[in-house]
Amino acid sequence: MLEKRIIWATTRSVLETNKYKNKRSGERSKSHWSLFERCLRLFVFFLKVSGLYKKGMQNARNIKIKEIELEFKNLPPSFNNYKILHLSDLHIDSLPGLDNIISKKIESLNYDVCVLTGDYRRSISGSFKSIMRPMKKVIDSIKAKDGIYAVLGNHDTYLMVEYEDRIGVKILVNETIFIEKGKDKIAITGTDDPFYYFTDQAIMSLDEPINNFKIALVHTPELYDVAADNNYNLYLCGHTHGGQICLPGGIPIITHQFDDKKFIKGLWKEKNMTGYTSPGCGVSGIPVRFNNFGEITLFTLKGKG
Ligand SMILES: [Fe+2]
Repeated sequence: MLEKRIIWATTRSVLETNKYKNKRSGERSKSHWSLFERCLRLFVFFLKVSGLYKKGMQNARNIKIKEIELEFKNLPPSFNNYKILHLSDLHIDSLPGLDNIISKKIESLNYDVCVLTGDYRRSISGSFKSIMRPMKKVIDSIKAKDGIYAVLGNHDTYLMVEYEDRIGVKILVNETIFIEKGKDKIAITGTDDPFYYFTDQAIMSLDEPINNFKIALVHTPELYDVAADNNYNLYLCGHTHGGQICLPGGIPIITHQFDDKKFIKGLWKEKNMTGYTSPGCGVSGIPVRFNNFGEITLFTLKGKG
């Protein structure tokens, strides 16, 4: 296992210095990001002149708690009413005091396990020192008896794995853990981020011969077909921020390169698998949301019959 980790870290360290995104479909340029940032600066100017900027920031800080019941006919009986706290896209340095807002919301909730689906900082490169303290604040507020499991996103670095481990978060890198209750157990598989850092190891980790009820954690919806083909029951992801800046009715302006709109936000189905794309807690690009709110999601798993 240690050898696998070393090989992964070496590969990802190279990919992180690459000017290309490593995607399933091949290499794609990251250069659109600088053009995108220039457009955002213009948009910020418009928002400030029109007086909408402050309202957008208020929206971004107004994180909602969403409770969702999910029914599965093959849920092991011991896991009936099992609760999963799902946090995504914390981008914890994207808004002042975001760590306090999230921690306070979490304090009122009860759950068995917590999962995080990537993007812990605002930047996509450089040191992550500035997020250490606010991340610890959030993690310290999570009281999950079965642990905290996470995956990396495209804003993250492989160097975070050791730090997250030290503060109590187990980052799953193309690997599976099992949670046991009585005679029953469920599997949680976490892959490395497929948006910038796709490797075949992510596919292989979803292709293990595991017959338990199983949950996939992936930063983006991109591996939905692989997980569904391998009989995953639940697929949890984020990355899209639900569009972040949407038209009235929550219609996203930017779809983050996901052509099928079903993956942009909320519940979706693929074959027998249930998927959920979280709109995330933080923001990226500019610290505003419109017609869209950040979310902390609490799932309750229910057996059928
Ligand atoms: Fe992301």
